[in-house]
Amino acid sequence: MGENDKPVISQAENVSEKPRKRGCVGHCVKFWWAYLILLIVVIVVVVPVLILVAVPKIAQSKLDHAELILEGISVSNTQSNVMTMSINSVIKSSGGVSANIEPFEGVMYLEDRLPHTPFAKINFPATTAAKLQTVNVTQELEIHDIDALTTFNQWLLANETLRVTVEGETRIRVKGIARNYPVTFKKTIEMPGLNHLDGTIVNNTDIFLSPDENGNNFVGDTYIPNRSLVSFELGNVTFFNYLLGDEVGEVFIDNLVVVAGAPNKNRMRATIQNDPVLHALGEKPYCDETNGVLPFQIRGKSVKNHGEELEYFTNALNKYNQTIPIDIGGTLKKSVGITIPCGGLPH
Ligand SMILES: *[C@@H]1O[C@H](CO)[C@@H](O)[C@H](O)[C@H]1NC(C)=O
Ligand SMILES: *[C@@H]1O[C@H](CO)[C@@H](O)[C@H](O)[C@H]1NC(C)=O
Ligand SMILES: *[C@@H]1O[C@H](CO)[C@@H](O)[C@H](O)[C@H]1NC(C)=O
Ligand SMILES: *[C@@H]1O[C@H](CO)[C@@H](O)[C@H](O)[C@H]1NC(C)=O
Ligand SMILES: *[C@@H]1O[C@H](CO)[C@@H](O)[C@H](O)[C@H]1NC(C)=O
Ligand SMILES: *[C@@H]1O[C@H](CO)[C@@H](O)[C@H](O)[C@H]1NC(C)=O
Repeated sequence: MGENDKPVISQAENVSEKPRKRGCVGHCVKFWWAYLILLIVVIVVVVPVLILVAVPKIAQSKLDHAELILEGISVSNTQSNVMTMSINSVIKSSGGVSANIEPFEGVMYLEDRLPHTPFAKINFPATTAAKLQTVNVTQELEIHDIDALTTFNQWLLANETLRVTVEGETRIRVKGIARNYPVTFKKTIEMPGLNHLDGTIVNNTDIFLSPDENGNNFVGDTYIPNRSLVSFELGNVTFFNYLLGDEVGEVFIDNLVVVAGAPNKNRMRATIQNDPVLHALGEKPYCDETNGVLPFQIRGKSVKNHGEELEYFTNALNKYNQTIPIDIGGTLKKSVGITIPCGGLPH
């Protein structure tokens, strides 16, 4: 309140004729220090709070509310330690914020298995906060944790659905603010599993009385259901074959690629012991009720792709028996002209 203030006041009074404005000016000038404090408070406290706390919170919350929609995973060029993985997805958000998300390394793990152990590391590209955004990633995937990948494959094979979480630390840049904020990208997706390959069909079958050049005495077409969103290249797959609790032979599917959303027709071949099969055909209910349809079971024995054993597939297929009904009675009649009556063939 020095003397210097006075000329300013009179000057202002002279210029302004409106009392309201004059009052404001008088008030403003009189309390200039209060405004200064307020300004300082805004600059020192509110702006940083906004920039350091509110904006990142809003950005994180926007990111948290965005949805990751999986359209497909494809696993190809599978080798024992590396494979090519493609993930096609869409990120859906409410939009409204103009922001760029930096590329980041995300891990994938089974949400419902503790402790959370990543089975894959994915390099996500830069994205924006657009409402609908396609994120397709194709990369070489080094297999760091073969047990975790095997468990994922087991769940994929066995479960009706499974939940996978993608998680990574990245930074977001909101338009108009010259700062990058750290944010966490974490999304859990629920995807259909293969449900023990339930519904696998084997038909168009033939039986040979003497084995062919591969030593096989049975061939047929297999149709593997395609419930899952995951396509994978297996290679040459060998299965143990069981009938009514006993091992009766081996089943082979060569160059197997299971494709999501495709009918997955493959030729199969097998070497099966005759005696247990003929014996079962003569027993109830197979000789009457099922009309010669036998409940074979298969379980993975080996998965070899271009000479490399793929443990992460073998040990997944190895864990369960899949039951596949096969019309052996009908095949025997068609291929060899024999029908086995209840009680077996007369000696
Ligand atoms: C992403 O993959 C999907 C297949 O799921 C394809 O239809 C689409 O064209 C791809 N988009 C881009 C940008 O590559
Ligand atoms: C998936 O399958 C595995 C192995 O059979 C089982 O242990 C697990 O509880 C299943 N998880 C879900 C969520 O169904
Ligand atoms: C075998 O099953 C498939 C799939 O259900 C069907 O499309 C095909 O016609 C069947 N073939 C024979 C010979 O029955
Ligand atoms: C496999 O995919 C095809 C094509 O999308 C579909 O027509 C068929 O019903 C599917 N089969 C199974 C068993 O899911
Ligand atoms: C698969 O079935 C065979 C024959 O019934 C049995 O010996 C074996 O223990 C089963 N394996 C699994 C993993 O269930
Ligand atoms: C499957 O086995 C056959 C015969 O041994 C071989 O020629 C072929 O290259 C194998 N395929 C794969 C994908 O390994």
